[in-house]
Amino acid sequence: MNKKGFIFDLDGVIVDTAKYHYLAWRDLASELGFEFTIEQNEMFKGVSRKRCMEILLDIGGIAATKNQFDTWMIEKNVDYLKYIDKMDASEILPDVGRVLDFLKKRKIPIALGSASKNAQPILEKVGLLSYFDTIVDGNNVTKAKPDPEVFLLAAEQLGVKADNCIVFEDAVAGIEAANKANMISIGIGDNNILSEAQYNFNDFTEMDNAFLNGLLAGN
Ligand code: BG6
Ligand code: MG
Repeated sequence: MNKKGFIFDLDGVIVDTAKYHYLAWRDLASELGFEFTIEQNEMFKGVSRKRCMEILLDIGGIAATKNQFDTWMIEKNVDYLKYIDKMDASEILPDVGRVLDFLKKRKIPIALGSASKNAQPILEKVGLLSYFDTIVDGNNVTKAKPDPEVFLLAAEQLGVKADNCIVFEDAVAGIEAANKANMISIGIGDNNILSEAQYNFNDFTEMDNAFLNGLLAGN
């Protein structure tokens, strides 16, 4: 049997931080004098902070100087950090702990593959850091999802061949990145949005141990 590796996205897969990202972007938009809706926030999932800032300014029709751009991006993150500061284990999404325990018990290598530069403190806050053999996040990559760099680097650090890796993702860009990396892509969320995923579940409660065993066996 080929050695398998599992790669988890963070925001929207392990914890529902999308709501805090949304609140922080909405605060900034409102300060800049326009509305940012929850529907528009969908476009921000899996997308780097810098790219989100560019999209937000497009939505507001605002032309920013480089200085303003950088200042607003810092402001958004300071605001976001205030929200995540209050996070604890109660914010881990349903059955994430069961799946992590299942893999850990079988000594399967586990990586985080996230666009966020705040990944490590979030995992610490919710008490999941020790599950991860490696963390690849926005601080380690130069190319954002849908580029496969984040997942390829995670596979390399796990010492697992890319096509033996399984990726859990909630963002369209992340599914595209996993597919490009030649990994098994598992969408966590709405099947209509994540239609390019090889498998799809609304959340981990729908993913039973038989399915996980099937992945390990390479079925
Ligand atoms: C992704 C989120 O995981 O991380 C995006 O889905 C976010 O919405 C991106 O913009 C970057 O996060 P951070 O924490 O570095 O601002
Ligand atoms: Mg995500």
